[in-house]
Amino acid sequence: MLYRVTDPTGHITHFESASSDRSKAIIAVSISSTFTIPRGSFMLPTFCDLHLHAPQFLYQGTGLHLPLMKWLDEYAFKAEERIDGDHDLARRVYQRLAERLIENGTGAVLLFGTIKEETNLVLASVMQQAGIRALVGKLSMDISTRPTYTEHSASASLASAESFINNIEALMAPLPPHQRLVQPVLTPRFVPTCSNELLEGLGQLSARTGVMIQSHLAEARDEVDWVRQERGIDDFEVFEKANLLTPRTVQAHCTYLTPSEMSRLAEHGTSIAHCPLSNAYFSARRLPLREALHAGVKIGLGTDIAGGYSANVMGSMRWAVGVARMREGARIEGENVGPKEDAENAHAETNLGLDWLESMYMATRGGAEALGLECGVFKVGAPFDAQCLKLFDPETGRGVGALDFLDLESGSGDMTLSLEIVEKWWCLGDSRNRTDMWVQGRRLGQKTIV
Ligand code: GUN
Ligand code: FE
Repeated sequence: MLYRVTDPTGHITHFESASSDRSKAIIAVSISSTFTIPRGSFMLPTFCDLHLHAPQFLYQGTGLHLPLMKWLDEYAFKAEERIDGDHDLARRVYQRLAERLIENGTGAVLLFGTIKEETNLVLASVMQQAGIRALVGKLSMDISTRPTYTEHSASASLASAESFINNIEALMAPLPPHQRLVQPVLTPRFVPTCSNELLEGLGQLSARTGVMIQSHLAEARDEVDWVRQERGIDDFEVFEKANLLTPRTVQAHCTYLTPSEMSRLAEHGTSIAHCPLSNAYFSARRLPLREALHAGVKIGLGTDIAGGYSANVMGSMRWAVGVARMREGARIEGENVGPKEDAENAHAETNLGLDWLESMYMATRGGAEALGLECGVFKVGAPFDAQCLKLFDPETGRGVGALDFLDLESGSGDMTLSLEIVEKWWCLGDSRNRTDMWVQGRRLGQKTIV
């Protein structure tokens, strides 16, 4: 079943079985163009990165020895302020980010931007031009440790958030609906930088406009302690009171949620952006991922540039599996793997591990579901958002990039794709395997592998 056809607006219209000639499978990416899937390659929906700070791409891989709140002061706020003050720099950073996203097979991304509205319009137009599906979040923050990097009142912040929504809509309006790739998203940075007045106003704005919401929830020890001390309650309750936990909300991290908060998150229909690499640095706890899935929470994967140092969602998949396996190992050893009240939880007998196929779901459809997008799946009516991954040379059986199949190479040209071969790609593959990519039927990054 490799013959897929999309209509001129980039949606899949029907499927046909592959011909008996195994050397060819044809895919039509629009009525007027066709693509032949070479043997030795497979198609996967594009990745969805559910949490990435676009301005922090400027300094990815820097200063990760610091705890979260210090790192934000030393690096994040400074870099974001610099980008807000220099639109040429912003454009250069965002264009390079778009190139890297395409190189890594990311076709949809939920972005944190900066405070200034105009800089976020630069980000939106760069993503739209690059052909990447992007939800762009103008930061809302009326409290800051950096007096030059803040909004000056809740009302000014709310006015700017609303103006940003209107400006993105104006940017998209001239385009036919299928070409509108960018949406605005309300983005209270996290509780420590937002007054209750601002949070409540954003909750009302989202209810009125239907615009999505993203933030950071229960991320790190220093952060949760700060909130409890300053507000007298946990992050969760602060967001809940402001009506910011909705089915339109994506919360990053959530490593410090209690089991009952996790169940309430599921009841609200709020999704989690799981960022296992950045959690390894900033959160002393691991996300109770299996428990969150059992509770019915929708989960996608985020790179969290620059709390995570890589924009490659494949890294997030590998870290998610590794961290879950270590939790499972700790459970078998009888260690307490969750918050204290979790010690006798209902899942004490449940395997807490995650397999690589589950991580592939979270990296594609899981993220798309969290964002209410139709992509992340190959089905009739879905947009054609796809990546083509070449794993071996069909003539020799020799692996592409970092892949070796020494025990499988026959040399007679009859090696076929199997789950085993795809698993090897999941473990070892990189951008050298990615020969093609489309978003809404538009071809983005094409390379020839020799
Ligand atoms: N919490 C608030 N802001 C940030 C940020 O920029 N990065 C991360 N990882 N956590 C945050
Ligand atoms: Fe983050």
